[in-house]
Amino acid sequence: MDMKLVFQDAAGFQTPLLTVFAVDVAIGKDADPLIALLTTSDAVTNAAAAIIASDEFKGALGEQVVLHSPGGLKAERLLIVGLGKAKTLSVDEVRKAAGAAVRWAKPRGMRQIAIAFPEDHALSDEHLENLPCTLLSRALIEGAGIAEMDWDTYRSDRKDRSIEVLTVIAPENEESTTREIQTGFEEGRILSEAQNFARALVNEPGNVLTPTELGRRAAAMCGEKGLKCEVYSTEKLEELKMGAFAAVAKGSAQPPALVVMTYEPKLEKGKVPAKDAPVLGLVGKGITFDTGGISLKSADGMEKMKYDMAGAAAMIGAMHAIAQLKPSVKVIGIVCSAENMPSGTAYKPGDVVTAMSGKTIEILNTDAEGRMVLADGLHYAKTLGCTHLIDAATLTGACVVALGMINAGLFSNDDETFENFSRAIQVSGEKFWRLPCTEDYKDQIKSQIADIMNTGGTRWGGAISAAMFLKEFAEDTPWIHLDIAGCAWNEEVKPWHPKGPSGTAVRSIVEWVRTYSA
Ligand code: BES
Ligand code: ZN
Ligand code: ZN
Repeated sequence: MDMKLVFQDAAGFQTPLLTVFAVDVAIGKDADPLIALLTTSDAVTNAAAAIIASDEFKGALGEQVVLHSPGGLKAERLLIVGLGKAKTLSVDEVRKAAGAAVRWAKPRGMRQIAIAFPEDHALSDEHLENLPCTLLSRALIEGAGIAEMDWDTYRSDRKDRSIEVLTVIAPENEESTTREIQTGFEEGRILSEAQNFARALVNEPGNVLTPTELGRRAAAMCGEKGLKCEVYSTEKLEELKMGAFAAVAKGSAQPPALVVMTYEPKLEKGKVPAKDAPVLGLVGKGITFDTGGISLKSADGMEKMKYDMAGAAAMIGAMHAIAQLKPSVKVIGIVCSAENMPSGTAYKPGDVVTAMSGKTIEILNTDAEGRMVLADGLHYAKTLGCTHLIDAATLTGACVVALGMINAGLFSNDDETFENFSRAIQVSGEKFWRLPCTEDYKDQIKSQIADIMNTGGTRWGGAISAAMFLKEFAEDTPWIHLDIAGCAWNEEVKPWHPKGPSGTAVRSIVEWVRTYSA
C-alpha cells in the first residue's frame, strides 16, 4: 500500500472512498449520543448532515456508516467511522478507527482510498483537549498500515484485495502544523512497515521458517536497510560455550541460528563516541516451533507454537524501523533461534547444562526452553558491550493466565529503565503491565544440584519464575523482560485487525530505543 499525504480541502478530492472520523460529544453517562465530525470542511459536514441528525449512527469506536454519491463532494462514497466518546479520545482510537476504514474498504474491492486528517480543533474546548499533531498523524498511518494485512498468502483461492494507495488529506495549515503532520506521517509509515514485517515472519509455518530461514530473512532485511548482520550456527554456539542455547537446539535436525544485527549511529564529522554512551541490546526468543521437547506438549492447539518466535520477530522488526529512524544510539539486535523437538539427541529432564555465563542449570522441564536460549542471548549481549538490555519472548502460559490477552507482562531490574519504557508505551499505545521480580522470588528457581533450575519449584507465579531465571543472566545490567505470550497472536477479529500475528512490542521497543537517542 502506497501512502500519500496531501494538503487540500477534502471535498475537492476525487476518490472512490473518503473517510471522515466522528466522535460522540454527549456529556454524562446516560446521555443520548451527540455526533460531531472531526472536520472543518463545510461540504463534508453538509454531506453527512442527515445521517448525523438521525439516531442511526452512534459514533462508537470502529462503528461505520457509508453514504454513496455524497452531495457537494468529489468522492464517490463518504465513510464515517466512529471514535467513541470525545472525553476519552486519544490517538489510540484514531489508530483503530483508521484501521477500521481500511478493513471496511479492502473486502469491498476499493483500490484507492482517502482519509480526512482528524481535525480535533473542529470541536469546542469543552469537548476535547487537542491531541498532538505528530502523534495523531503517526497513529493514523500506523493503524491504516497494520490493518492492510491479511494472512491468506498460502490459500490458492486467494484474491488479492490489497489497497494500492491510501491518501491522507490534511487541510492547509500553518507551516509548523504541516511539518508536524509530515513527521508523524513518515514515522507512522516506517513503524507500520516494520510491524508488518515482524507479523509476516510470525505468520510463516514452522516447516518454512526454520531457524536457518529466519536467519536468512533477518540478513536480507539488514542488507536492504544498511545494517550489519552476522548469522551463526552450531559451531559458534560451541565456541561461545552457549550450553543452554545448544541444549535446546540439539534435539532438532534443524540447526540453530544466532543472529546479530548491528545499528551504528552516524557521528557528526570530527566527533568521537562518548565513552559512557549507552549501547542497547535487543534479545529475542526465536523458537520456530515449540513441541515442548521430551516434556511434550499435548496435541491440542500445538500448531499455534509456530508463533514461539514472535519475540525474535519483534526484534527484527524493531531493527527494520531503527535503520530508517536513525536514532543517535548504538543498538545490537540478537536473535536466538532453534526448534524445540523431542528426539534421541534432545535434552532431557534431569540434565544439567552450563550456560555461557558459567552458571549451571538443572533441567526440570524441556518445555521451558525459551528462558534457556535467552539466558545465553542476554549474557552474549553483555559481552558485546550492551549497557541496557531488553528481551521479548512468548515465554509463559502463566503470563497469559495472569494478564489475559490485553496486557503483555513486563519485568525489570531497574526503575529508571522501566520509566523509559513507560514513556515509550505512552507513545506506542501498546499495553504492558509490570509484574515483580524482586529477590523474594529467588527461591522459586533454587536447585538442589545446580545453581538454578529451569522451572519454578512451585506452579504458582510461573511468569515470575521465568523472569527470575532471566534476571540471573542480565545480572546488574539494567534490563527489561517482555512476556508477550498472550498478545503476540490476535485471537479475535476486531474492526481494525484480523485474527493472526499482532506484531506486539515492535513499536514500543523502537520508542524505548529512541528515549536513549541524544
Ligand atoms: N512457548 C511456551 C509459552 C507459551 C504458552 C507461549 C502459551 C504462547 C502461548 C513456553 O516455551 C512454554 O512452554 N512454557 C511453559 C513453561 C513451563 C514448562 C514452566 C508453560 O508456560 O507452560
Ligand atoms: Zn516451551
Ligand atoms: Zn516456547
